[in-house]
Amino acid sequence: MGIDIKISPSQDAIGKHAAKRIKQLLELKPDAVIGMATGSTPEPMYAELVRMHKEEGLDFSRATFFNLDEYAGLRPDHPESYHAYMQTHLYDHINADPAKIHILDGKAKRLGNEVLTFEAKIKAAGGIDLQILGIGTNGHIGFCEPGTSFNSRTHVVKLAQSTRQDNARFFGGKVSKTPEYALTMGIQTIMDAKRIILLANGEGKAAAIRSAAQGPVSPNTPASILQEHDNVTFMLDPAAAQSLDRSVTRGTRRP
Ligand code: GLP
Repeated sequence: MGIDIKISPSQDAIGKHAAKRIKQLLELKPDAVIGMATGSTPEPMYAELVRMHKEEGLDFSRATFFNLDEYAGLRPDHPESYHAYMQTHLYDHINADPAKIHILDGKAKRLGNEVLTFEAKIKAAGGIDLQILGIGTNGHIGFCEPGTSFNSRTHVVKLAQSTRQDNARFFGGKVSKTPEYALTMGIQTIMDAKRIILLANGEGKAAAIRSAAQGPVSPNTPASILQEHDNVTFMLDPAAAQSLDRSVTRGTRRP
Protein backbone atom coordinates (compact mmCIF):
# COMPACT_ATOMS: atom_id res chain seq x y z
CA MET A 1 0.00 0.00 0.00
CA GLY A 2 1.08 3.59 -0.44
CA ILE A 3 2.24 5.31 -3.57
CA ASP A 4 5.86 5.15 -4.63
CA ILE A 5 6.84 8.61 -5.94
CA LYS A 6 9.68 9.05 -8.42
CA ILE A 7 10.74 12.48 -9.60
CA SER A 8 12.57 12.94 -12.89
CA PRO A 9 13.88 16.23 -14.26
CA SER A 10 11.63 16.40 -17.33
CA GLN A 11 8.76 14.87 -19.27
CA ASP A 12 11.34 13.24 -21.52
CA ALA A 13 13.12 11.65 -18.59
CA ILE A 14 9.80 10.36 -17.21
CA GLY A 15 9.09 8.80 -20.61
CA LYS A 16 12.48 7.11 -20.77
CA HIS A 17 12.12 5.74 -17.27
CA ALA A 18 8.62 4.38 -17.90
CA ALA A 19 9.78 2.78 -21.18
CA LYS A 20 12.59 1.10 -19.27
CA ARG A 21 10.05 -0.47 -16.90
CA ILE A 22 8.09 -1.81 -19.88
CA LYS A 23 11.29 -3.18 -21.39
CA GLN A 24 12.20 -4.91 -18.12
CA LEU A 25 8.76 -6.47 -17.96
CA LEU A 26 8.95 -7.72 -21.56
CA GLU A 27 12.39 -9.22 -20.99
CA LEU A 28 11.08 -11.06 -17.96
CA LYS A 29 7.73 -11.96 -19.50
CA PRO A 30 7.63 -11.62 -23.32
CA ASP A 31 3.89 -12.40 -23.39
CA ALA A 32 3.04 -9.73 -20.81
CA VAL A 33 -0.30 -7.92 -20.90
CA ILE A 34 0.20 -4.16 -20.95
CA GLY A 35 -2.40 -1.43 -20.52
CA MET A 36 -1.61 1.67 -22.57
CA ALA A 37 -2.64 5.30 -22.13
CA THR A 38 -2.96 8.26 -24.48
CA GLY A 39 -2.59 12.01 -24.04
CA SER A 40 0.42 14.23 -24.51
CA THR A 41 2.13 13.02 -21.32
CA PRO A 42 3.18 9.53 -22.53
CA GLU A 43 4.40 10.64 -25.97
CA PRO A 44 8.12 10.54 -24.98
CA MET A 45 7.56 7.05 -23.50
CA TYR A 46 6.28 5.83 -26.85
CA ALA A 47 9.18 7.49 -28.70
CA GLU A 48 11.58 5.64 -26.40
CA LEU A 49 9.81 2.29 -26.90
CA VAL A 50 10.06 2.78 -30.66
CA ARG A 51 13.77 3.57 -30.29
CA MET A 52 14.27 0.48 -28.12
CA HIS A 53 12.60 -1.65 -30.77
CA LYS A 54 14.61 -0.20 -33.65
CA GLU A 55 18.00 0.10 -31.96
CA GLU A 56 17.93 -2.59 -29.30
CA GLY A 57 15.60 -5.11 -30.90
CA LEU A 58 12.99 -4.93 -28.13
CA ASP A 59 10.44 -7.55 -29.12
CA PHE A 60 6.71 -6.83 -28.74
CA SER A 61 5.45 -9.75 -30.85
CA ARG A 62 4.19 -11.91 -27.99
CA ALA A 63 2.77 -9.13 -25.79
CA THR A 64 -0.92 -8.23 -25.54
CA PHE A 65 -2.08 -4.61 -25.36
CA PHE A 66 -5.24 -3.02 -24.03
CA ASN A 67 -5.98 0.69 -24.23
CA LEU A 68 -7.58 2.52 -21.38
CA ASP A 69 -10.18 4.48 -23.27
CA GLU A 70 -11.57 5.86 -26.53
CA TYR A 71 -13.95 8.62 -27.58
CA ALA A 72 -17.46 7.47 -28.46
CA GLY A 73 -18.54 8.40 -31.96
CA LEU A 74 -15.09 8.65 -33.54
CA ARG A 75 -14.16 6.15 -36.21
CA PRO A 76 -10.87 4.35 -35.60
CA ASP A 77 -9.34 6.24 -38.52
CA HIS A 78 -10.41 9.66 -37.20
CA PRO A 79 -7.11 11.50 -36.60
CA GLU A 80 -8.04 12.32 -32.98
CA SER A 81 -9.25 8.84 -32.09
CA TYR A 82 -7.10 6.96 -29.61
CA HIS A 83 -6.81 4.21 -32.24
CA ALA A 84 -5.06 6.69 -34.52
CA TYR A 85 -2.95 8.00 -31.65
CA MET A 86 -1.69 4.53 -30.76
CA GLN A 87 -0.95 3.63 -34.39
CA THR A 88 0.95 6.87 -34.97
CA HIS A 89 2.91 6.88 -31.74
CA LEU A 90 3.57 3.17 -31.31
CA TYR A 91 2.02 0.37 -33.30
CA ASP A 92 3.07 1.59 -36.77
CA HIS A 93 6.69 1.41 -35.63
CA ILE A 94 7.02 -1.81 -33.60
CA ASN A 95 6.38 -5.50 -34.17
CA ALA A 96 3.21 -5.90 -32.07
CA ASP A 97 0.81 -8.57 -33.32
CA PRO A 98 -2.35 -6.73 -34.53
CA ALA A 99 -4.45 -9.60 -33.16
CA LYS A 100 -3.14 -8.78 -29.68
CA ILE A 101 -3.91 -5.04 -29.77
CA HIS A 102 -7.24 -4.20 -28.14
CA ILE A 103 -8.69 -0.70 -28.27
CA LEU A 104 -12.33 0.05 -27.51
CA ASP A 105 -14.34 0.79 -30.66
CA GLY A 106 -16.07 4.15 -30.23
CA LYS A 107 -18.18 3.44 -33.31
CA ALA A 108 -19.40 0.01 -32.22
CA LYS A 109 -23.12 -0.43 -32.97
CA ARG A 110 -23.85 -1.44 -29.39
CA LEU A 111 -21.50 0.33 -27.02
CA GLY A 112 -23.00 -1.68 -24.15
CA ASN A 113 -21.77 -4.91 -25.76
CA GLU A 114 -18.44 -3.39 -26.70
CA VAL A 115 -17.56 -2.64 -23.06
CA LEU A 116 -18.56 -6.14 -21.90
CA THR A 117 -16.55 -7.81 -24.65
CA PHE A 118 -13.53 -5.68 -23.74
CA GLU A 119 -13.70 -6.79 -20.10
CA ALA A 120 -14.01 -10.41 -21.20
CA LYS A 121 -10.91 -10.05 -23.38
CA ILE A 122 -8.88 -8.69 -20.47
CA LYS A 123 -9.98 -11.64 -18.36
CA ALA A 124 -9.21 -14.12 -21.12
CA ALA A 125 -5.72 -12.63 -21.48
CA GLY A 126 -5.08 -13.34 -17.79
CA GLY A 127 -5.42 -9.76 -16.53
CA ILE A 128 -3.17 -6.74 -16.99
CA ASP A 129 0.42 -7.05 -15.75
CA LEU A 130 1.28 -3.37 -16.06
CA GLN A 131 -1.10 -0.46 -16.59
CA ILE A 132 0.23 2.93 -17.69
CA LEU A 133 -1.91 5.91 -16.67
CA GLY A 134 -1.98 9.64 -17.14
CA ILE A 135 -4.17 11.90 -15.01
CA GLY A 136 -6.71 14.55 -15.89
CA THR A 137 -6.54 17.98 -14.24
CA ASN A 138 -9.75 16.94 -12.42
CA GLY A 139 -8.10 13.77 -11.11
CA HIS A 140 -9.62 11.40 -13.66
CA ILE A 141 -7.88 8.22 -14.77
CA GLY A 142 -8.74 6.83 -18.18
CA PHE A 143 -12.00 8.67 -18.68
CA CYS A 144 -13.30 7.78 -15.20
CA GLU A 145 -14.54 11.19 -14.19
CA PRO A 146 -15.07 12.46 -10.62
CA GLY A 147 -18.02 10.60 -9.09
CA THR A 148 -17.28 7.31 -10.88
CA SER A 149 -17.87 4.30 -8.64
CA PHE A 150 -14.74 2.58 -7.41
CA ASN A 151 -16.44 -0.70 -8.35
CA SER A 152 -16.89 0.29 -11.99
CA ARG A 153 -15.79 -1.87 -14.88
CA THR A 154 -15.39 -0.82 -18.51
CA HIS A 155 -18.30 1.48 -19.30
CA VAL A 156 -19.64 4.37 -21.36
CA VAL A 157 -19.18 7.76 -19.74
CA LYS A 158 -20.42 11.31 -20.29
CA LEU A 159 -17.31 13.47 -20.21
CA ALA A 160 -17.00 16.23 -17.62
CA GLN A 161 -17.11 19.75 -19.01
CA SER A 162 -13.57 20.36 -17.69
CA THR A 163 -12.30 17.31 -19.60
CA ARG A 164 -13.91 18.51 -22.81
CA GLN A 165 -12.30 21.92 -22.25
CA ASP A 166 -8.89 20.31 -21.59
CA ASN A 167 -9.17 18.18 -24.73
CA ALA A 168 -10.69 20.85 -27.00
CA ARG A 169 -7.13 21.67 -28.10
CA PHE A 170 -7.22 18.47 -30.17
CA PHE A 171 -10.49 19.48 -31.84
CA GLY A 172 -9.64 22.88 -33.26
CA GLY A 173 -9.92 24.49 -29.82
CA LYS A 174 -13.70 24.03 -29.90
CA VAL A 175 -15.46 22.38 -26.94
CA SER A 176 -18.54 21.97 -29.17
CA LYS A 177 -16.47 19.76 -31.53
CA THR A 178 -15.03 17.69 -28.67
CA PRO A 179 -16.85 14.38 -28.13
CA GLU A 180 -19.36 14.32 -25.28
CA TYR A 181 -19.10 10.62 -24.52
CA ALA A 182 -16.33 8.08 -24.22
CA LEU A 183 -15.67 4.46 -23.38
CA THR A 184 -13.26 3.73 -20.58
CA MET A 185 -11.90 0.95 -18.44
CA GLY A 186 -13.55 1.18 -15.04
CA ILE A 187 -11.79 1.96 -11.80
CA GLN A 188 -11.98 -1.66 -10.68
CA THR A 189 -10.61 -2.75 -14.07
CA ILE A 190 -7.62 -0.45 -13.52
CA MET A 191 -7.17 -1.52 -9.89
CA ASP A 192 -7.07 -5.18 -10.96
CA ALA A 193 -3.81 -4.53 -12.86
CA LYS A 194 -0.89 -6.14 -11.05
CA ARG A 195 1.23 -3.05 -11.36
CA ILE A 196 0.38 0.58 -12.19
CA ILE A 197 2.59 3.46 -13.32
CA LEU A 198 1.02 6.92 -13.49
CA LEU A 199 2.84 9.65 -15.43
CA ALA A 200 2.34 13.38 -14.94
CA ASN A 201 4.27 16.50 -15.77
CA GLY A 202 3.72 20.22 -15.55
CA GLU A 203 2.24 22.46 -12.88
CA GLY A 204 -1.23 22.05 -14.35
CA LYS A 205 -1.25 18.56 -12.84
CA ALA A 206 0.13 19.53 -9.40
CA ALA A 207 -3.25 19.87 -7.66
CA ALA A 208 -4.55 16.60 -9.11
CA ILE A 209 -1.36 14.81 -8.06
CA ARG A 210 -1.62 16.15 -4.54
CA SER A 211 -5.27 15.05 -4.22
CA ALA A 212 -4.46 11.67 -5.74
CA ALA A 213 -1.45 10.92 -3.57
CA GLN A 214 -2.29 12.70 -0.33
CA GLY A 215 -5.95 13.64 -0.35
CA PRO A 216 -8.74 11.53 1.08
CA VAL A 217 -9.56 8.41 -0.94
CA SER A 218 -12.77 9.60 -2.54
CA PRO A 219 -14.63 9.24 -5.86
CA ASN A 220 -14.28 13.05 -6.13
CA THR A 221 -10.67 12.33 -7.15
CA PRO A 222 -10.79 9.02 -9.01
CA ALA A 223 -6.98 8.66 -8.94
CA SER A 224 -7.01 8.72 -5.11
CA ILE A 225 -8.09 5.06 -5.10
CA LEU A 226 -4.56 4.25 -6.26
CA GLN A 227 -3.47 4.79 -2.64
CA GLU A 228 -5.11 1.42 -1.98
CA HIS A 229 -3.19 -0.48 -4.68
CA ASP A 230 -0.13 -2.35 -3.50
CA ASN A 231 2.13 -1.70 -6.50
CA VAL A 232 1.78 1.80 -7.87
CA THR A 233 4.40 4.33 -8.88
CA PHE A 234 3.82 7.98 -9.77
CA MET A 235 6.53 9.21 -12.15
CA LEU A 236 6.51 13.00 -11.98
CA ASP A 237 8.53 16.02 -12.96
CA PRO A 238 9.26 18.64 -10.26
CA ALA A 239 6.37 20.85 -11.43
CA ALA A 240 3.77 18.09 -11.10
CA ALA A 241 5.23 17.14 -7.70
CA GLN A 242 5.40 20.71 -6.37
CA SER A 243 2.34 20.54 -4.12
CA LEU A 244 3.20 17.24 -2.44
CA ASP A 245 4.30 17.38 1.19
CA ARG A 246 8.05 17.35 1.56
CA SER A 247 7.72 14.26 3.74
CA VAL A 248 6.61 12.42 0.61
CA THR A 249 9.07 13.81 -1.91
CA ARG A 250 12.10 13.94 0.38
CA GLY A 251 14.22 10.85 -0.07
CA THR A 252 12.37 9.74 -3.21
CA ARG A 253 14.66 8.05 -5.62
CA ARG A 254 15.52 10.16 -8.61
CA PRO A 255 15.95 7.84 -11.60
C1 GLP B 1 -7.35 12.29 -21.46
C2 GLP B 1 -7.23 10.77 -21.35
C3 GLP B 1 -6.50 10.36 -20.12
C4 GLP B 1 -5.24 11.18 -19.96
C5 GLP B 1 -5.59 12.63 -19.79
C6 GLP B 1 -4.38 13.53 -19.63
O1 GLP B 1 -8.51 12.80 -20.96
N1 GLP B 1 -8.47 10.10 -21.38
O2 GLP B 1 -6.22 8.96 -20.18
O3 GLP B 1 -4.51 10.73 -18.86
O4 GLP B 1 -6.31 13.04 -20.93
O5 GLP B 1 -3.90 13.93 -20.87
P1 GLP B 1 -2.55 14.74 -21.10
O6 GLP B 1 -1.45 13.73 -20.91
O7 GLP B 1 -2.62 15.21 -22.51
O8 GLP B 1 -2.52 15.81 -20.10
